[in-house]
Amino acid sequence: MNLLLETRDRILYITINRESKLNALNRETLSELHTAITDSFEDPAVGGIIITGAGEKAFVAGADISEFAAYSAEEGRELARQGQSKVFDLLQNSGKPVIAAINGFALGGGLELALACHIRVASATAKMGLPEVSLGLIPGYGGTQRLAQLVGKGRALEMILTADMVSAEEAHRTGLVNHVVQPDRLIAKAEEILGRIMIRSPFAVASAINAVNAGLEDGKNGYETEIDEFSACFGSEDFKEGISAFLEKRKAEFSGK
Ligand code: COA
Repeated sequence: MNLLLETRDRILYITINRESKLNALNRETLSELHTAITDSFEDPAVGGIIITGAGEKAFVAGADISEFAAYSAEEGRELARQGQSKVFDLLQNSGKPVIAAINGFALGGGLELALACHIRVASATAKMGLPEVSLGLIPGYGGTQRLAQLVGKGRALEMILTADMVSAEEAHRTGLVNHVVQPDRLIAKAEEILGRIMIRSPFAVASAINAVNAGLEDGKNGYETEIDEFSACFGSEDFKEGISAFLEKRKAEFSGK
Protein backbone atom coordinates (compact mmCIF):
# COMPACT_ATOMS: atom_id res chain seq x y z
CA MET A 1 0.00 0.00 0.00
CA ASN A 2 1.45 3.36 -1.06
CA LEU A 3 -1.22 5.45 0.61
CA LEU A 4 -2.13 5.99 4.24
CA LEU A 5 -5.89 6.39 4.53
CA GLU A 6 -7.64 7.58 7.64
CA THR A 7 -11.10 9.02 8.21
CA ARG A 8 -11.53 11.27 11.24
CA ASP A 9 -14.35 13.71 11.96
CA ARG A 10 -15.74 13.24 8.43
CA ILE A 11 -12.40 14.08 6.78
CA LEU A 12 -10.62 11.46 4.68
CA TYR A 13 -6.85 12.01 5.00
CA ILE A 14 -4.96 10.62 2.02
CA THR A 15 -1.21 10.60 2.63
CA ILE A 16 1.02 9.60 -0.28
CA ASN A 17 3.45 7.33 1.51
CA ARG A 18 6.59 6.64 -0.54
CA GLU A 19 8.88 8.86 1.44
CA SER A 20 12.12 7.25 0.21
CA LYS A 21 11.11 8.22 -3.38
CA LEU A 22 9.82 11.64 -2.32
CA ASN A 23 6.29 10.26 -2.75
CA ALA A 24 6.66 10.00 -6.54
CA LEU A 25 3.51 8.69 -8.21
CA ASN A 26 4.10 5.23 -9.62
CA ARG A 27 1.43 3.17 -11.34
CA GLU A 28 0.38 1.44 -8.11
CA THR A 29 0.02 4.70 -6.23
CA LEU A 30 -2.14 6.16 -8.99
CA SER A 31 -4.33 3.07 -8.98
CA GLU A 32 -4.69 3.27 -5.17
CA LEU A 33 -5.58 6.95 -5.49
CA HIS A 34 -8.28 6.08 -8.02
CA THR A 35 -9.77 3.52 -5.63
CA ALA A 36 -9.54 5.78 -2.57
CA ILE A 37 -11.22 8.69 -4.37
CA THR A 38 -14.03 6.62 -5.93
CA ASP A 39 -14.66 4.85 -2.59
CA SER A 40 -14.91 8.24 -0.85
CA PHE A 41 -17.71 9.33 -3.21
CA GLU A 42 -19.88 6.45 -1.92
CA ASP A 43 -18.86 6.70 1.72
CA PRO A 44 -21.35 8.71 3.80
CA ALA A 45 -18.73 8.98 6.57
CA VAL A 46 -16.58 11.19 4.30
CA GLY A 47 -17.51 14.87 3.98
CA GLY A 48 -14.24 16.13 2.52
CA ILE A 49 -10.71 15.09 1.65
CA ILE A 50 -7.22 16.33 2.55
CA ILE A 51 -4.33 15.10 0.40
CA THR A 52 -0.77 15.42 1.66
CA GLY A 53 2.63 13.72 1.40
CA ALA A 54 4.46 11.63 4.01
CA GLY A 55 7.47 13.22 5.71
CA GLU A 56 8.66 16.79 5.70
CA LYS A 57 10.51 16.94 2.42
CA ALA A 58 7.96 16.29 -0.30
CA PHE A 59 4.28 16.51 -1.09
CA VAL A 60 4.89 14.58 -4.33
CA ALA A 61 8.09 14.99 -6.41
CA GLY A 62 6.33 14.03 -9.63
CA ALA A 63 5.35 11.02 -11.64
CA ASP A 64 7.77 8.15 -11.08
CA ILE A 65 10.40 8.85 -13.73
CA SER A 66 11.86 5.33 -13.57
CA GLU A 67 8.57 3.82 -14.79
CA PHE A 68 8.23 5.70 -18.07
CA ALA A 69 11.90 5.90 -19.04
CA ALA A 70 11.42 3.49 -21.96
CA TYR A 71 7.90 4.50 -23.06
CA SER A 72 6.91 4.91 -26.71
CA ALA A 73 4.72 7.78 -27.97
CA GLU A 74 1.66 5.53 -27.77
CA GLU A 75 2.44 4.43 -24.22
CA GLY A 76 2.95 8.07 -23.30
CA ARG A 77 -0.48 8.92 -24.69
CA GLU A 78 -2.11 6.16 -22.60
CA LEU A 79 -0.23 7.25 -19.46
CA ALA A 80 -1.59 10.79 -19.78
CA ARG A 81 -5.08 9.76 -20.83
CA GLN A 82 -5.55 7.15 -18.10
CA GLY A 83 -3.99 9.38 -15.45
CA GLN A 84 -6.15 12.34 -16.37
CA SER A 85 -9.43 10.44 -16.40
CA LYS A 86 -8.81 8.04 -13.50
CA VAL A 87 -7.21 10.38 -10.98
CA PHE A 88 -6.80 14.03 -11.88
CA ASP A 89 -10.17 14.77 -13.53
CA LEU A 90 -11.84 12.54 -10.96
CA LEU A 91 -10.46 14.72 -8.16
CA GLN A 92 -11.36 17.98 -9.89
CA ASN A 93 -14.93 16.76 -10.38
CA SER A 94 -15.36 15.36 -6.88
CA GLY A 95 -18.58 16.67 -5.34
CA LYS A 96 -16.86 16.47 -1.96
CA PRO A 97 -14.36 19.26 -1.36
CA VAL A 98 -10.69 18.30 -1.72
CA ILE A 99 -7.81 20.30 -0.24
CA ALA A 100 -4.15 19.78 -1.07
CA ALA A 101 -1.89 20.31 1.95
CA ILE A 102 1.45 20.93 0.22
CA ASN A 103 4.11 20.01 2.78
CA GLY A 104 7.26 20.17 0.60
CA PHE A 105 8.27 19.63 -3.03
CA ALA A 106 5.25 19.58 -5.36
CA LEU A 107 6.81 18.95 -8.75
CA GLY A 108 5.50 17.73 -12.08
CA GLY A 109 2.67 15.26 -11.46
CA GLY A 110 2.82 16.31 -7.80
CA LEU A 111 1.94 19.90 -8.58
CA GLU A 112 -0.65 18.62 -11.06
CA LEU A 113 -2.19 16.60 -8.23
CA ALA A 114 -2.41 19.75 -6.12
CA LEU A 115 -3.82 21.69 -9.09
CA ALA A 116 -6.61 19.13 -9.50
CA CYS A 117 -7.69 19.71 -5.87
CA HIS A 118 -10.25 22.44 -5.18
CA ILE A 119 -8.12 24.43 -2.74
CA ARG A 120 -4.38 24.47 -1.99
CA VAL A 121 -2.66 25.27 1.31
CA ALA A 122 1.14 25.30 1.36
CA SER A 123 3.73 25.06 4.06
CA ALA A 124 6.13 28.04 4.02
CA THR A 125 8.92 25.61 3.12
CA ALA A 126 7.13 24.13 0.07
CA LYS A 127 8.55 24.46 -3.42
CA MET A 128 6.46 24.05 -6.54
CA GLY A 129 7.21 23.61 -10.22
CA LEU A 130 6.56 21.83 -13.48
CA PRO A 131 10.08 20.69 -14.47
CA GLU A 132 9.03 18.35 -17.31
CA VAL A 133 10.74 20.30 -20.12
CA SER A 134 14.05 19.64 -18.38
CA LEU A 135 13.36 15.92 -19.04
CA GLY A 136 12.27 16.50 -22.65
CA LEU A 137 8.59 16.22 -21.68
CA ILE A 138 5.65 18.45 -20.91
CA PRO A 139 3.09 18.12 -18.10
CA GLY A 140 0.59 15.38 -19.02
CA TYR A 141 -1.86 15.27 -16.14
CA GLY A 142 -3.67 18.50 -16.98
CA GLY A 143 -0.94 20.86 -15.75
CA THR A 144 -0.74 22.99 -18.90
CA GLN A 145 -4.45 23.73 -18.58
CA ARG A 146 -5.02 23.98 -14.84
CA LEU A 147 -1.94 26.07 -14.10
CA ALA A 148 -2.88 28.59 -16.81
CA GLN A 149 -6.45 28.76 -15.46
CA LEU A 150 -5.17 29.42 -11.97
CA VAL A 151 -2.30 31.88 -12.44
CA GLY A 152 -2.87 33.15 -16.01
CA LYS A 153 -1.20 32.16 -19.26
CA GLY A 154 1.91 34.33 -18.94
CA ARG A 155 2.90 33.11 -15.49
CA ALA A 156 2.03 29.50 -16.37
CA LEU A 157 4.19 29.61 -19.50
CA GLU A 158 7.08 31.08 -17.53
CA MET A 159 6.90 28.27 -14.97
CA ILE A 160 6.46 25.54 -17.59
CA LEU A 161 9.08 26.82 -20.07
CA THR A 162 11.79 27.67 -17.54
CA ALA A 163 11.08 24.53 -15.44
CA ASP A 164 11.98 26.70 -12.43
CA MET A 165 10.51 26.13 -9.00
CA VAL A 166 8.63 28.85 -7.14
CA SER A 167 8.58 29.40 -3.39
CA ALA A 168 5.40 29.11 -1.33
CA GLU A 169 5.39 32.88 -0.96
CA GLU A 170 5.54 33.45 -4.71
CA ALA A 171 2.91 30.75 -5.27
CA HIS A 172 0.67 32.62 -2.86
CA ARG A 173 1.26 35.95 -4.57
CA THR A 174 0.25 34.53 -7.95
CA GLY A 175 -2.84 32.68 -6.70
CA LEU A 176 -1.32 29.23 -7.18
CA VAL A 177 -1.98 28.46 -3.51
CA ASN A 178 -4.75 29.91 -1.35
CA HIS A 179 -2.78 30.08 1.92
CA VAL A 180 0.77 29.74 3.21
CA VAL A 181 1.31 28.67 6.82
CA GLN A 182 4.13 27.44 9.02
CA PRO A 183 4.75 23.69 8.54
CA ASP A 184 3.27 22.73 11.92
CA ARG A 185 0.02 24.57 11.05
CA LEU A 186 -0.47 23.01 7.62
CA ILE A 187 -2.98 20.25 8.38
CA ALA A 188 -4.80 22.42 10.93
CA LYS A 189 -5.28 25.13 8.30
CA ALA A 190 -6.63 22.61 5.76
CA GLU A 191 -8.95 21.18 8.46
CA GLU A 192 -10.16 24.67 9.35
CA ILE A 193 -11.13 25.44 5.74
CA LEU A 194 -12.72 22.04 5.22
CA GLY A 195 -14.62 22.44 8.50
CA ARG A 196 -16.10 25.71 7.25
CA ILE A 197 -17.21 24.02 4.02
CA MET A 198 -18.57 20.86 5.66
CA ILE A 199 -21.09 22.75 7.81
CA ARG A 200 -22.72 24.00 4.57
CA SER A 201 -25.15 22.06 2.40
CA PRO A 202 -23.20 19.19 0.78
CA PHE A 203 -25.75 19.19 -2.03
CA ALA A 204 -25.11 22.87 -2.76
CA VAL A 205 -21.33 22.50 -2.34
CA ALA A 206 -21.30 19.74 -4.99
CA SER A 207 -23.51 21.87 -7.26
CA ALA A 208 -21.19 24.86 -6.90
CA ILE A 209 -18.10 22.78 -7.72
CA ASN A 210 -19.82 21.41 -10.82
CA ALA A 211 -20.90 24.88 -11.99
CA VAL A 212 -17.45 26.44 -11.49
CA ASN A 213 -15.75 23.52 -13.26
CA ALA A 214 -18.19 23.66 -16.19
CA GLY A 215 -17.06 27.13 -17.25
CA LEU A 216 -13.51 25.86 -17.67
CA GLU A 217 -14.37 22.71 -19.58
CA ASP A 218 -14.54 22.36 -23.35
CA GLY A 219 -18.03 21.81 -24.71
CA LYS A 220 -19.77 22.94 -21.54
CA ASN A 221 -21.55 26.20 -20.93
CA GLY A 222 -20.84 27.38 -17.40
CA TYR A 223 -23.81 29.75 -17.26
CA GLU A 224 -26.21 27.03 -18.41
CA THR A 225 -24.73 24.57 -15.92
CA GLU A 226 -25.18 27.19 -13.20
CA ILE A 227 -28.88 27.48 -14.09
CA ASP A 228 -29.27 23.68 -14.02
CA GLU A 229 -27.49 23.33 -10.69
CA PHE A 230 -29.33 26.30 -9.19
CA SER A 231 -32.60 24.68 -10.23
CA ALA A 232 -31.57 21.27 -8.83
CA CYS A 233 -30.86 22.87 -5.44
CA PHE A 234 -34.53 23.91 -5.17
CA GLY A 235 -35.48 20.23 -5.34
CA SER A 236 -33.09 19.20 -2.55
CA GLU A 237 -33.84 18.39 1.09
CA ASP A 238 -30.86 20.57 1.98
CA PHE A 239 -32.64 23.59 0.50
CA LYS A 240 -35.76 22.96 2.60
CA GLU A 241 -33.62 22.47 5.70
CA GLY A 242 -31.47 25.54 5.00
CA ILE A 243 -34.47 27.81 4.53
CA SER A 244 -36.36 26.37 7.55
CA ALA A 245 -33.32 26.70 9.78
CA PHE A 246 -32.86 30.33 8.72
CA LEU A 247 -36.52 31.20 9.37
CA GLU A 248 -36.52 29.31 12.69
CA LYS A 249 -33.23 30.97 13.70
CA ARG A 250 -31.46 27.65 14.31
CA LYS A 251 -28.43 25.87 12.91
CA ALA A 252 -29.14 23.84 9.76
CA GLU A 253 -28.67 20.05 9.91
CA PHE A 254 -27.99 19.11 6.31
CA SER A 255 -28.41 15.57 4.97
CA GLY A 256 -26.71 16.24 1.63
CA LYS A 257 -29.81 15.03 -0.21
N1 COA B 1 10.49 9.78 -9.85
C1 COA B 1 11.18 8.74 -9.34
N2 COA B 1 12.01 8.86 -8.30
C2 COA B 1 12.15 10.07 -7.74
C3 COA B 1 11.45 11.21 -8.21
C4 COA B 1 10.59 11.01 -9.33
N3 COA B 1 9.87 12.02 -9.83
N4 COA B 1 11.81 12.28 -7.46
C5 COA B 1 12.69 11.83 -6.54
N5 COA B 1 12.89 10.50 -6.70
C6 COA B 1 13.77 9.63 -5.91
C7 COA B 1 15.23 9.82 -6.27
O1 COA B 1 15.56 9.05 -7.43
C8 COA B 1 15.88 9.29 -5.02
O2 COA B 1 15.84 7.88 -5.04
P1 COA B 1 17.17 7.01 -4.64
O3 COA B 1 17.46 7.41 -3.23
O4 COA B 1 16.70 5.59 -4.79
O5 COA B 1 18.23 7.42 -5.60
C9 COA B 1 14.96 9.75 -3.91
O6 COA B 1 13.70 9.97 -4.54
C10 COA B 1 15.39 11.02 -3.22
O7 COA B 1 15.57 12.02 -4.22
P2 COA B 1 16.94 12.87 -4.42
O8 COA B 1 16.97 13.34 -5.82
O9 COA B 1 18.09 12.08 -3.92
O10 COA B 1 16.67 14.08 -3.42
P3 COA B 1 17.31 15.55 -3.53
O11 COA B 1 17.01 16.20 -2.22
O12 COA B 1 18.72 15.48 -3.98
O13 COA B 1 16.49 16.29 -4.69
C11 COA B 1 14.50 16.89 -5.95
C12 COA B 1 15.11 16.55 -4.56
C13 COA B 1 12.98 16.97 -5.77
C14 COA B 1 15.03 18.24 -6.43
C15 COA B 1 14.87 15.78 -6.95
O14 COA B 1 14.53 14.52 -6.38
C16 COA B 1 14.18 15.88 -8.30
O15 COA B 1 14.53 16.71 -9.10
N6 COA B 1 13.21 14.96 -8.56
C17 COA B 1 12.53 14.89 -9.83
C18 COA B 1 11.54 16.00 -10.00
C19 COA B 1 10.90 15.94 -11.37
O16 COA B 1 11.51 16.16 -12.39
N7 COA B 1 9.59 15.65 -11.37
C20 COA B 1 8.82 15.65 -12.57
C21 COA B 1 8.65 14.28 -13.07
S1 COA B 1 7.73 14.29 -14.59
